[in-house]
Amino acid sequence: MYQQQIEAAKEHFGALLEKQLKRVEEMKAQGGFVDYKALEKIVIGVCGGDGIGPAITSQAQRVLEYLLADEMKNGKVEFKKIDGLTIERRAAEMKAIPDDVLAELKACDVILKGPTTTPRKGDEWPNVESANVAMRKELDLFANVRPVRIPEQGIDWTFYRENTEGGYAAGKEGVNVSEDLGIDFTIATSEGCDRIIRAAFEYAKANGKTRVTAVTKANIIKTTDGKFLDTFYRIAAEYEGIAADDWYIDIMTAKLLDEARRRDFQVVVLPNLYGDIITDEAAELQGGVGTAGSANLGKKYAMFEAIHGSAPRMVKEGRDIYADPCSVIRAGAMLLSHIGYQEQADKLYQALDICTVTEKKLVMTGRDTGATGAEFADYIMETIAGL
Ligand code: IPM
Ligand code: MG
Repeated sequence: MYQQQIEAAKEHFGALLEKQLKRVEEMKAQGGFVDYKALEKIVIGVCGGDGIGPAITSQAQRVLEYLLADEMKNGKVEFKKIDGLTIERRAAEMKAIPDDVLAELKACDVILKGPTTTPRKGDEWPNVESANVAMRKELDLFANVRPVRIPEQGIDWTFYRENTEGGYAAGKEGVNVSEDLGIDFTIATSEGCDRIIRAAFEYAKANGKTRVTAVTKANIIKTTDGKFLDTFYRIAAEYEGIAADDWYIDIMTAKLLDEARRRDFQVVVLPNLYGDIITDEAAELQGGVGTAGSANLGKKYAMFEAIHGSAPRMVKEGRDIYADPCSVIRAGAMLLSHIGYQEQADKLYQALDICTVTEKKLVMTGRDTGATGAEFADYIMETIAGL
């Protein structure tokens, strides 16, 4: 019984294994991180995405161009606008990222990206893969770095979420073996665990952090989370002076709400899905998922984005000019720091603090009762000029 279904599933599984083993070889063949200083020119792609994306990213671009005016003049930095990563194009071509858009993305060194719509069962769009997930895979952006800071509570967390493996690697390659049996796959590779964990420890070392925490469910998901955890402690042994500990995802979710303990966390490294979940929880504590910026780092490419949605309703109601560009501007600050313009990044962080916390001369309400995104960007630039 079921012989045919089992054979079909085995064949499917075989193809998946081949693909993943090929990916392992590709990872092994990769060199080190790109050195932006050594590049003749750094090309910054600005990819608007869907909904309010084009409105807010264009404001972030204005701010970055202001901060990098000299570098643009002397040809070290160039901005490139990338259109076409829209749900309409993706649905028409049934592609997570249209080929020409992917080629344009690959012609950049770093990318600032607006939100993209992820279709889900039952909505008006066909089931194309998330553009985000596809971009992470295509550009091999394996480290999703999400900082969460609440200074008044002593919270300064940096999450290093693995971005290419786990439940996401073959998320659309599960099988319905029979009408009654569905199977998904979750993937961990030695190389994949090694590079994200090393990146977390290197960040800790470079930034004077004294603790790195791993989060898994290795007591239950023994093979893949087990590999992640073993790799964690093996690498931790190489970093003298940095304490390493690990928590299971369930209790970690609780501990982030434990005011007496949570400020002790510093750098947290976790597999993809746990990172997805916990970074939303952490961002909510900071003031909402819309307040967090996010860096997606690979060895060759890097992409920076806000982690909020595309708010299509705001566009439908003609309110996209009132959308708050603050989190994608924050992502822009992470971009500046990543490509070596730390001084400009610091100024931008400082201005963001002034404009959204300490002075807060403008209020964003998302409608005509508040400021527009352009006014907010102006306010940021004026503030920088006055620093
Ligand atoms: C995120 C988002 C994405 C994810 C979605 C939009 C595919 O939730 O960046 O955290 O699940 O990774
Ligand atoms: Mg998420």
